[in-house]
Amino acid sequence: MISILRRKNDTQPTRRLCIQVLRHNPADAASVPHLQAFEIAEAEGMTLFIALNEIRATQDPSLQFDFVCRAGICGSCAMLIDGRPGLACRTLTRDLGTTITLAPLPFFELIGDLSVNTGKWMRGTSERLQTWIHSSAQTDLDALEAPMEPELAEAIYELDRCIECGCCIAGCGTAQMREKFVGAVGLNKIARFRLDPRDDRSNDDFYELIGDDDGVFGCMSLLGCHDVCPKQLPLQTQIAYLRRKMAVIGLA
Ligand code: SF4
Ligand code: F3S
Ligand code: FES
Repeated sequence: MISILRRKNDTQPTRRLCIQVLRHNPADAASVPHLQAFEIAEAEGMTLFIALNEIRATQDPSLQFDFVCRAGICGSCAMLIDGRPGLACRTLTRDLGTTITLAPLPFFELIGDLSVNTGKWMRGTSERLQTWIHSSAQTDLDALEAPMEPELAEAIYELDRCIECGCCIAGCGTAQMREKFVGAVGLNKIARFRLDPRDDRSNDDFYELIGDDDGVFGCMSLLGCHDVCPKQLPLQTQIAYLRRKMAVIGLA
C-alpha cells in the first residue's frame, strides 16, 4: 500500500514509491523470473539510480544493476523503465508514478536482474562494421593532421555522441525479430565514418557492410530508436540518408 507522508516544516508531501524489479539470475538453474517489489521514501531530486542504490544498501545487497558515470555518459545504466528504454541515472522518480516497474533491456545477454551485457554486442557490431578510420596514407607521427572545417567536425562530433547504451536496439521491433540487424547504433556509426574525410573507404565499401537486410534495408522506419535515444541523436535523418545513398549504389 502506497502512502503519502509530509516532510517536516514542508508543505510538499513525500511520496512512498513501490519499485518493482524483474529479477532473474540466469546462472542459477533454480532461478525463476519474477517481479519483486521494494518500497522506499522518495527524496528531493531522486533518480532511479539513487533509488536502486538505496534499495541495494538498505534492503537487498544481491540486486544487480550497472552504472559507472551517473551522468548519462557511460551508457551502462540503461533499462526498461515502465516498459520504455531509458537511463536510470537520468530519470527522476518525480517524473514517474508511485509504482515504477523496471526490467532489463531485451535483446542483450542477461547477466542478472537489471544488468545486461551490452558491451559484448557493441564490440561484436563494431568489429563487424569495422568502425575505425581506414586510411591508406603513410602514418607520420610527427606530421600535423590536416585541419577540418569546423562545420564538418561538428557534424562528426554530433554522431560521435552515441554512448552505446543499447536503448535504440531495445526500442526497435526489427532488432527483436532479426538477430543480426545492426540497428540504429550500427547505422549511426557507419554514417559517422562516411562523413570523416580521413576514412578512405568508398561508398561501395560501406555498401558491403550495411547494404542488406541486416543493415540499412532491414530498417522498417519504426522510429522507436529515434524516440528513445537518450542523447537525442538524429537517427531518423541519418538512416533515411544512408538508405537513399545505399539504394543508389545498389541500383548502379
Ligand atoms: Fe544509445 Fe542513442 Fe547510441 Fe542508440 S544511438 S546506443 S540509443 S546513444
Ligand atoms: Fe528500428 Fe529505428 Fe529502423 S526503430 S526499424 S532502426 S527506424
Ligand atoms: Fe553512466 Fe547512467 S551511469 S549513463
